[in-house]
Amino acid sequence: MTFPELHTDRLLLRQLRADDAEDLFSYFSLDQVTEFYDLDSFTNCEQARELILSWVSRYERQEGIRWGITLKSENRVIGTCGFHNWFKEHFKAEVGYELHPDYWRQGIMSEAVNAIVGYGFEQLELNRIEAFIDPANEASRRLLTKIGMQEEGLLRACFFEKGKFVDASLFAILQKGNRDK
Ligand SMILES: CC(C)(COP(=O)(O)OP(=O)(O)OC[C@H]1O[C@@H](n2cnc3c(N)ncnc32)[C@H](O)[C@@H]1OP(=O)(O)O)[C@@H](O)C(=O)NCCC(=O)NCCS
Repeated sequence: MTFPELHTDRLLLRQLRADDAEDLFSYFSLDQVTEFYDLDSFTNCEQARELILSWVSRYERQEGIRWGITLKSENRVIGTCGFHNWFKEHFKAEVGYELHPDYWRQGIMSEAVNAIVGYGFEQLELNRIEAFIDPANEASRRLLTKIGMQEEGLLRACFFEKGKFVDASLFAILQKGNRDK
């Protein structure tokens, strides 16, 4: 099974490897990255390694896909993005992402998510791509709106995260032919 590498203007999206753990740890250890994430900030590199291995094995089981985001000019992983909760019978999946704060607000995640959304529709036969975000996550809201997702509603007490129930705003984009629905 060959992992699909994706190229954009500035980025190479490639398969994650165990030796990317230090790069992931450098930002998953920061509270500003995990603030709206269903994970506590990492306290050791092994947690990043385990996360990578769980993404890799999910891909091997064809249950999801997570790309490591690198700038073409350097091989360091500066973030990840991908699909999980992939329901093949419904042709839909959920998108997720995070980026090292040193690279925020340079259009990098818009570039990456645009590429994987295109890949999802064209190669994974997705018809609907969803995102569930914390209503207070303004960066995510702006990013999803920018790439053409529509906000569909507020799901109350949707997840139990870090010891409490939290609401989620649901965003989605449909395959081109179905977008008027
Ligand atoms: C969400 C995240 C990936 C955005 O990445 P990014 O590369 O900075 O996003 P972009 O630069 O592509 O920006 C996309 C849009 O959002 C806007 N935006 C980005 N960060 C913002 C912020 N903190 N506040 C307000 N708007 C913001 C940008 O201005 C841009 O809109 P514009 O082109 O209309 O100006 C990044 O903030 C992050 O990793 N956050 C922590 C992890 C996280 O919350 N993941 C999502 C869990 S659902």
